[in-house]
Amino acid sequence: MNISTSDRRNHSTRSHAIIVGGGVIGASIAYELGKAGFACTIIDKSGWSQEASTAAAGMLGAQSETHHPGPFYDLCRASQQLYSDWTEELEAASGIAPQYIAKGIVRAALSEEDEQELRSRLDWIQDAEWLDAQSLLQIENELTPSVRGGLYLPKDHQVHPVWLTRSLRAALERQGCCVKEWAPVFKLLTAPGTGSVCGVSTPEGELYADLVVLAAGAWSSSLTEPLGLKLPIFPVKGQCLALRTEAPLISHTLFTKGCYIVPKADGSCIIGATQVEAGFDKRATATAISVLHDRAQELLPRMAEAEFVSTWSGLRPGTLDGLPYLGAWEGAPGLLLATGHFRNGILLAPITGRVIGQLATGITPEVDLTPYAPARALAGASQAL
Ligand code: FAD
Ligand code: GLY
Repeated sequence: MNISTSDRRNHSTRSHAIIVGGGVIGASIAYELGKAGFACTIIDKSGWSQEASTAAAGMLGAQSETHHPGPFYDLCRASQQLYSDWTEELEAASGIAPQYIAKGIVRAALSEEDEQELRSRLDWIQDAEWLDAQSLLQIENELTPSVRGGLYLPKDHQVHPVWLTRSLRAALERQGCCVKEWAPVFKLLTAPGTGSVCGVSTPEGELYADLVVLAAGAWSSSLTEPLGLKLPIFPVKGQCLALRTEAPLISHTLFTKGCYIVPKADGSCIIGATQVEAGFDKRATATAISVLHDRAQELLPRMAEAEFVSTWSGLRPGTLDGLPYLGAWEGAPGLLLATGHFRNGILLAPITGRVIGQLATGITPEVDLTPYAPARALAGASQAL
């Protein structure tokens, strides 16, 4: 079956793209492709953004969540720099504010070991300042008095992932993008003889397109495996807790070993997150939530008296080398991959949308994508053999 008549709204003369996965990555790509003139269909096995993208805390932690200098750090910073304009543009396009808050992160040291590790980052991190305990307590006076100091990262801002994905959805609908929910893609279709990817198989039947983009997060590898590309992408569960205090206790995001606290515009705080490889099991456990609460209280003692709001969990798309897969694979022309963003998919959404949009329109991407080439999965597999 081809795309149905009702889905063809304005699709007749334009190139058609199918995006598999309506998380923040698929949505940002569909938005860029829509701007570039593609007629887009975005297909998700669930309702809109019910997986990792809305489980996220929304930190834009280019400085706080990378571990060494190099191309990945540069990619994170490039995306971070796009955020202010991108969220402004999305708000104008959708009428919904993604709740971008330009207030940095403090990585607080509670032990000598933490302090040494954080101070060593000053050798390579840009836009960072070490604050001693007294200076830190001046900007965040509810922090535990036993804090030793912290790394202030003034450019690591935040966004609200739920409002970001709502904003993206509304912007996509205004662009005329067709959004199909509760429609699992069973397989990627290839044209007989050429091996080119030409569509997808769904419960509604076969849908065809000029371009297919795979942005299925932790579920991506099952769709590429039949094509001969075994991607080492796996789910990494993260559990979170939301609490509210009568008056806000903090204005910056606080981050320490094993715990972060992100203050949101509605007065709640997101406390995250565990990191466990437990397959596709998304259940939240009382023990994990209780550990998070304990850690949050170590950092901010008044979290003990906070009101409980909710808990949830999500599956980060982890990869063996910690890097996403971005771009084409020569074994499957017609397919672009954008998956495996692990802990940084919210941060990396705008740059991912841009580079995939550039590849789709034949423009050299503004970032060298060599470190993220899908073909490295095959090299890894043969090395392991
Ligand atoms: P997803 O949001 O999982 O979307 C993939 C979509 O594909 C899903 O909607 C799924 O239903 C769909 N899908 C899968 N298979 C199929 C199929 N066969 N057919 C159709 N649809 C399919 N990142 C940050 O940058 N900052 C943070 O502060 C942050 N905090 C996090 C906290 C937690 C607890 C977690 C779990 C993650 C966090 N992340 C954070 C990471 C971030 O959430 C992910 O990297 C990002 O959401 C990945 O986006 P995605 O669109 O690739 O995946
Ligand atoms: N980036 C925060 C997390 O993945 O928990």
